[in-house]
Amino acid sequence: MRPKFGIPIAGGLFLGFVTSAPLLAAGASTAPASTQGGTFFWYLSRTSGLVGYVLLFLSVCLGLAIKTRFLELLVPRWQNFDLHQFTALLATAFIGLHIFSLLGDHYIGFTLESLLVPLQASYKPEWVSVGIVAFYLFLIVTFSFYIRSSIGQKTWRALHYLTFAVFFMGLLHGLFAGSDTEAWAKFLYWGTAVAVTGVTGLRIWDSGSQGPAAVRPPGRRGAPSS
Ligand code: HEM
Repeated sequence: MRPKFGIPIAGGLFLGFVTSAPLLAAGASTAPASTQGGTFFWYLSRTSGLVGYVLLFLSVCLGLAIKTRFLELLVPRWQNFDLHQFTALLATAFIGLHIFSLLGDHYIGFTLESLLVPLQASYKPEWVSVGIVAFYLFLIVTFSFYIRSSIGQKTWRALHYLTFAVFFMGLLHGLFAGSDTEAWAKFLYWGTAVAVTGVTGLRIWDSGSQGPAAVRPPGRRGAPSS
């Protein structure tokens, strides 16, 4: 990880905690009496899961838009690349929080094994497993950037296409593992699915009409063509 991302990620996590506080408080006050006092980590996991999902969505859209002319009208391409990478790293941090805060929830009784090994959870094992596989794939995609020179551009690019699987697995996992997926959450899931499909279409259409690939700005050799 480039050191310059350390502070923004810590800041992002802090902001996440602050912004999720009202949701956590609301969740705790409406939780069934039998689980009162033990709901904090459950709601922490739910909010960080949602924040992680939204960041994953943003990162996918920014990655797809890197090569299109539309985004370049708003943000220079190299800044777009930094944003894409930053949102991916922040998403992994929030999803990590989403997973490991479940250890603090004693109502279902997640163990380290049930969080890391598919089909071991007692709660909706199939949909939790979809999340586990998505998370491993997401780690591979995100951190493959740092070994790009060793694995080569072709392999790296092939790995990068796994992002689509990660996004749609994250979507299905959120939709079906969520304990009470309300109307607004369904709107979020379907809205983001439509947006990713739309940006993918835009990217395909734009790459077909652009001719030779645009030249990278000088001094940005780190930014890969995605
Ligand atoms: C790419 C990876 C992942 C993403 C994007 C993600 C995102 C989400 C989202 C958005 C929700 C719904 C929250 C809600 O409805 O309030 C959720 C629920 C849940 N996730 Fe994940 N998750 C991921 C990986 C994991 C992993 C690896 C585990 C555990 C091993 C896990 C365990 C759970 C559980 C138990 C729930 C149900 C919580 C509830 O009652 O809503 N997730 N996740």
